Amino acid sequence: MIEDALRIVGSAQTNRAMEAELTRIVKKALARRPESPRRDGTGQLVYPWDDQVAAAALTYHRTSTRVVRDLYASSARRLEPLYDELVEDAAGDGRGWHDGIAAISVEVRRVAEFAAGERQVVGTVKNAIVDGLARRGRHVRVDADHFDALVVARLDDRGRVLVGLDLTKGTRTRRGWRSESGEAPLREHMAAVMAIEARYDPRRDLVVDPMCGAGTIAIEAALAARGAAVAAGDPAPSLWPDARPMVIAGDRDLDVLVAARHNAARAGVDVMFHRGDMTALDRDRLWALAADAGAVPERGLVLCNPPWGERLELADARLLYGALGDWWRSLRDFRAAFLVANSAFEDAFGARWAMKKPLSSGPLRGYLFVYEP
Ligand SMILES: C[S@@+](CC[C@H](N)C(=O)[O-])C[C@H]1O[C@@H](n2cnc3c(N)ncnc32)[C@H](O)[C@@H]1O
Repeated sequence: MIEDALRIVGSAQTNRAMEAELTRIVKKALARRPESPRRDGTGQLVYPWDDQVAAAALTYHRTSTRVVRDLYASSARRLEPLYDELVEDAAGDGRGWHDGIAAISVEVRRVAEFAAGERQVVGTVKNAIVDGLARRGRHVRVDADHFDALVVARLDDRGRVLVGLDLTKGTRTRRGWRSESGEAPLREHMAAVMAIEARYDPRRDLVVDPMCGAGTIAIEAALAARGAAVAAGDPAPSLWPDARPMVIAGDRDLDVLVAARHNAARAGVDVMFHRGDMTALDRDRLWALAADAGAVPERGLVLCNPPWGERLELADARLLYGALGDWWRSLRDFRAAFLVANSAFEDAFGARWAMKKPLSSGPLRGYLFVYEP
């Protein structure tokens, strides 16, 4: 069956952030609102296909990992009927998504419930697309290393095999500006999710990450404020070129901080860096740093991904999270969001959260805690 949808794919539990970001981007880039999406699970949004919205998402959407055009859907449960349906669909498809394409590669995801192995599903989808297009007089090769189009097949929440074109050609969580990283860098799109969930307003908020590591959160916040293109080096103009984000990032580890500074330079953003323990970034210091940079923020927002996981002994974790809680309270009126995967955090931080939601970043399976002053 022919399908035509724009699928925005991200991490679990990020639908709300992805939708809010896409709405903001489309309003600015296209001066209209996108239609309401259907939610497929907790980390995928499905919009009616729209070339312009797709182009805007592809260029500017930071909270997703992939942008996909759904092309065909099949309820087949076995390989042969799947092949037959897809061949017919591709042969009768006049949408021209394959124009100018010489080679494709095929990937499958989440097909564990299909009554065949992953490789067999890949083979079937490949053959069906190649054969179906050949019937239209379009001859494409399959080349997993050098391809112009990446075809993805996945089972959707309705149990159908969905075949689509991955417009991002693979996950784009690495933007290209981060060549140096600290010990546990956050995936870039999760930093973007944090900023949206914390309702970061670049015109008003001074953002502070006192444990910045590779600088991911600070750099993503600054890029999001400007509405910069996601891929480093993309010449697309920023959506808010005049934005002047106010971002401070600190870390006590000098090597890490040097790497963060290089990363910020590569990303082309101004971040105010500070070396030292987080406690040195007291309220006066933060406002003074902002004033030195000519910024006049109205309020403050802490965005931080503190050390977490097995590397941290329980006693150390309690001490660190307790100190973080004391530091945040001493700032008095800063909002805060912490992404952390350590069960000691909530109690040791010692404040009642305004929002707690499960969020993961690679091996980090944790929670996002949002606090209001
Ligand atoms: C999980 S990493 C942050 C990773 C970061 N979000 C990124 O994407 O690269 C935690 C960082 O906290 C720093 N750190 C730990 N304790 C600190 C303290 N008391 N003051 C300042 N920085 C601290 C470590 O040096 C480390 O770089």
